[in-house]
Order: sequence, then structure tokens, then C-alpha cells
Amino acid sequence: MQNITEYISQHKKRFVEELINLLKIPSISADNAYSKDVLRTAASVKDALEKAGCDVVEIHETEGYPIVYGEKIINETLPTVLVYGHYDVQPPDPLDLWNSPPFEPVIQKTDLHPEGAIFARGACDDKGQMYMHVKALELMVETGRLPCNVKFMIEGEEEVGSNNLAIYVAENREKLSNDIILISDTGMIANDIPSITTGLRGLSYVEVEVTGPNRDLHSGLYGGAVANPINILTKMIAGLHDENNRITIPGFYDNVEELSTGERAEMAKAPFSLEAYKKALDIDAVYGEKGYTTNERNAIRPTLDVNGIWGGYTGEGAKTVIASKAFAKISMRLVPNQDWKEITTLFKNHFENSAPEGVKVKVTPHHGGQGYVTPIDTIGYKAASKAYETTFGKKPIPQRSGGSIPIVSLFEQELGSKTILMGFGLDSDAIHSPNEHFGVWNYLKGIETIPYFYQYFTEMNS
Ligand code: BES
Ligand code: MN
Ligand code: MN
Repeated sequence: MQNITEYISQHKKRFVEELINLLKIPSISADNAYSKDVLRTAASVKDALEKAGCDVVEIHETEGYPIVYGEKIINETLPTVLVYGHYDVQPPDPLDLWNSPPFEPVIQKTDLHPEGAIFARGACDDKGQMYMHVKALELMVETGRLPCNVKFMIEGEEEVGSNNLAIYVAENREKLSNDIILISDTGMIANDIPSITTGLRGLSYVEVEVTGPNRDLHSGLYGGAVANPINILTKMIAGLHDENNRITIPGFYDNVEELSTGERAEMAKAPFSLEAYKKALDIDAVYGEKGYTTNERNAIRPTLDVNGIWGGYTGEGAKTVIASKAFAKISMRLVPNQDWKEITTLFKNHFENSAPEGVKVKVTPHHGGQGYVTPIDTIGYKAASKAYETTFGKKPIPQRSGGSIPIVSLFEQELGSKTILMGFGLDSDAIHSPNEHFGVWNYLKGIETIPYFYQYFTEMNS
């Protein structure tokens, strides 16, 4: 049987080229102008799965973008790994902050990626990480080491809430049955400090609208005499946090899982440099809920952030006006036991009730999902841990992430299986930001590590 690293070094040039071709297609799910490109990407994923060795590959149409399903069943009595990933990407704006066009991938060296990183939208989130699994399948098939069954489910609407995937999963429980779900759509601490993501935060995303007078008014003639929706909205938003940076929505913390002192001490062992963190972001201080460390604030604590705010005159020069309306988009990151629908209702009631007389407030829920925590005493986690140990020469650190993949908790609910989050990106890879990139080393390391997961998971199951 040909050795894994040998196969990778023989084919790495092609592995990178194939990924670059996939990254050239602007599969922006949020923007309808790109719908043809999103569909082209689905077709290209289908083709790649067929070439990698899947026996069945289907494009499942939905109300939105299609789901690409593939499988290679070698023996019904062996375990089945279900791989999930997404082929859609975030919009690339603001374009002028990119050093090279987002859909014309280039390889550039960086401090953290001395062997080069591929710069393109989706390089890390999630085309690059999803494609590692396609190439790992090719490797296992070609070198005769695929030890179990594998199913792929690659969607095109993760970045817009996975609504159609939720329907597909509920309607295809039998087809998607599996022993473990494997996802690479998160990150790790550093290339020499491997980690496995053991938690994701939940999410509630809402849009708010404050309406004052029925039209825009002269800010001199009416200023001081009517409620200014922008003044009111910003005051209402400011009131959502108290002086300790805790969220003031009544009931918001009721179900928050509090970690024990022991669990917090365990978390604090993960290597982290506050100085390096501040330096990387060019900030002189961190900011957040009193009584918690930075790593706790962005992983085990719930948060509320304004993602965008607009209204009134924002063009060149000055216009003296009191706008009729003001708007904001707000996200709340949730932790285990907080129910996203319940939190959305709490927010809506509180925000609508906290409006003063003279304005009307409307809260429109967007999307959301539950948080997720994966236990580490399972075969799945142990197999993943041993796989990293084999290829990194070090035991990976279990670490909860602040990001969200809302569909993961639904997988557990509908399919009854746990998810293992083997992410190979770095926080500094700039996902959702200009100049997103993915280390070539990370990409190849992922392709190398994944086959060991399959091997150990199968061995530990028998
Ligand atoms: N892959 C990310 C989530 C992620 C990244 C989790 C890094 C942990 C570490 C995913 O594509 C994403 O962006 N999720 C969204 C939520 C979704 C509903 C739009 C998020 O976290 O904002
Ligand atoms: Mn992603
Ligand atoms: Mn994303």
C-alpha cells in the first residue's frame, strides 16, 4: 500500500490547482446576481466527487441552491462517515481592501504561512477545507486504504442559514444514516499547536427598524420637537449592555450553562497570548463581559453585537435632516442550553417594549440555530485526537469556538449522531474578511490527517 505522505507529495501540485479552479467560481449565496455561478460550483463539486471515487453522486434540487450528495459504500456492516461542508462563500466586499481580486486566487507567503497561502474568497471557509475531504477520499481509494463507508453532503446555503438543508436532512434520515459526522469548517490554534473544536455557539440574527415621523424632516424646523429615530435607535442599542458589559434583556442568561471552576481552569491551559492577540488586531485593550477572560468571552459566554446600522444622510457633505427611519442588524451568539427561538422572542419583546413614545419599533427575526458541544470521551473524538497525534506529533487540545454552524445541532437531533469538527484554518486566515487565505501546508496537512481519522475510527469501532 502506497504511503500517505508519498501520495500527497506526488500529487500536491494538482491538489492545489484543483482547489484554485474551484475558488475561481464566485459562489456567493447571499447575492442573486451570482446564482449561475453558485449552480456551476455545485456541478463542479459533483464532478470532483465522482472523480475522487464516489459510486453515486447526485445533485439534489431544493427551493434554493442544490445539495451535492455522494457516497461510496464498500460494506454495509462497516461504519459510515458522513462528511458535511459548504461550497457557497460570503460576499467579498469591501473589494478595495483586497490585495488581489477575491476570485483570482494567488499564492503568497505570510508570517504564519511561510510555505505560502492561497488568497481567495472561500479559500478557508469552506471550499479549501471541504475539498481536503474530497482529496482525502481520492487518496484512500487510490492507495487502497478506504476502511469504511463514506457519504458526502455538501450544501450551497450555509452562509445564508441552511434553511433548505434542514428540510433535506429531515426528509432523508435513512439515506443520511451514519456513525459519525465529520466537518472541516472551523480552525485550530496554530500550525504547531493542533486543536479540535469541541463547541460552536448558537445564533439569533435579527433586524430592527425604528420609525419616527412619516417623512424625513428639516432638522432645524423640527429638531428638538420630535423623536429622531437614529438618536432613539442608538440609545436603545446602547441600553442592551450594562456597565459590566452584560446583556440587559430580561431572562437572557436564564439557561446559560455555567462552567465549573475546574472546567474554566482546563480551558485556561490552552496557549494564548493576550499581547499577540492585541497586536494582531491593532488594539490597545480587549473589551467584554466583566469577570471573564478573552477566550471565555468568545467561546463560552453569549454576546450581542450590532453588525450594521444605517439611516439618514450618509452621502458626501452635509444634509440637515431628521430621518423617518433607522435600522440595524443585530446578532446574538448563544451558548449551550440557550434556545435560539426563545432568545429571539425575548429580544423582540424587550426591544419593542423599550421604545419610548413617539417612535414605532419593528423586530424581524432572520435566522438562527442552536449551539453545540461535542463530548471528548467518544470513539469519534478519540479517533480524531489520535489522527492529529499521528500527523502533527502532538496531542490536539480540545477547544470551543465562538463561531456558529447552526445545522450541526440539527444533525444530532435528526440523525442521532455526533459531529467531529476537524478544522485546519487559523483565526488569522481572515474568513469573511478581505484577503481570506488558507495555508497550503494546512490544506495538505488536512488531506494527510483525514485518512487516519477513518482508519482509527474504523479500528476503534470493531
Ligand atoms: N465556518 C463558519 C463558522 C466557523 C468558523 C466556526 C470558524 C468556527 C470557527 C461558517 O461558515 C459561518 O460563517 N457561520 C456563520 C453562521 C451562519 C448562519 C451564517 C457565523 O458563524 O457567523
Ligand atoms: Mn463555513
Ligand atoms: Mn462562513
